[in-house]
Amino acid sequence: MKFPCRLEKFLSHVAEMPRSKVKINIKKGLVTVNGNVVKKGDIQVTPADHITFDGNRLEYLGLRYYMLNKPQGYVCANSDELHPTVFDLIEEPNLKDFHVAGRLDIDTTGLVLLTNDGDWSHQITSPKKQKFKTYVLESRDELTEEALTQLEQGVELHGERQATLPAKAELIDKFALRLSICEGKYHQVKRMLAAVGNQVVELHRENIAGIELDPTLAKGEYRPLTDEEISIINAN
Ligand code: URA
Repeated sequence: MKFPCRLEKFLSHVAEMPRSKVKINIKKGLVTVNGNVVKKGDIQVTPADHITFDGNRLEYLGLRYYMLNKPQGYVCANSDELHPTVFDLIEEPNLKDFHVAGRLDIDTTGLVLLTNDGDWSHQITSPKKQKFKTYVLESRDELTEEALTQLEQGVELHGERQATLPAKAELIDKFALRLSICEGKYHQVKRMLAAVGNQVVELHRENIAGIELDPTLAKGEYRPLTDEEISIINAN
């Protein structure tokens, strides 16, 4: 949310009120700004203003950042007609202008970052920034040294003109791999494994640009990022 903004917008966002109700409540004299009843919704306000509705202070909560350990079966979208979304797992007020900084497929688990700070998430998702994301995957077939080298050097994905950028691959066991990539193409990890004749059976994200999934978070749990985690994005 950008400030200054219209009082109507502030109320509909912070009080999670439909615009039609906002107008009615303003007309009824239920809204005050800095101690004065206000009858016009188009005045400009900022978070520094003392705004009340029906006697209660309304405060803009500012920029917020959360990490979620995403379980399978949830989609990374603000709403979905068929499936629950990651936002169904976040019990916080005013999530209206939140978004996911780097989506995961419905069947992928692990680290998802959610924020209402568009500039911050741009640092993560912009292809130009080439931030590394680390995944652990289980494969259908045994992983060969040759496949690892190919994945690291770059593979051609079906339907793409350019090969994938250099990646880091570390064998965990014959059927498990830790793969770090600095791009975010559609189904990229699954397509990379397909490009070397294998298939991803399970996929889990453990790190985004240096932010590690907190191992104390059970599947479906979330927590706010620390100040240090928020600023790691600028370093990596
Ligand atoms: N690559 C994929 O194929 N799927 C994901 O969810 C993330 C990266």
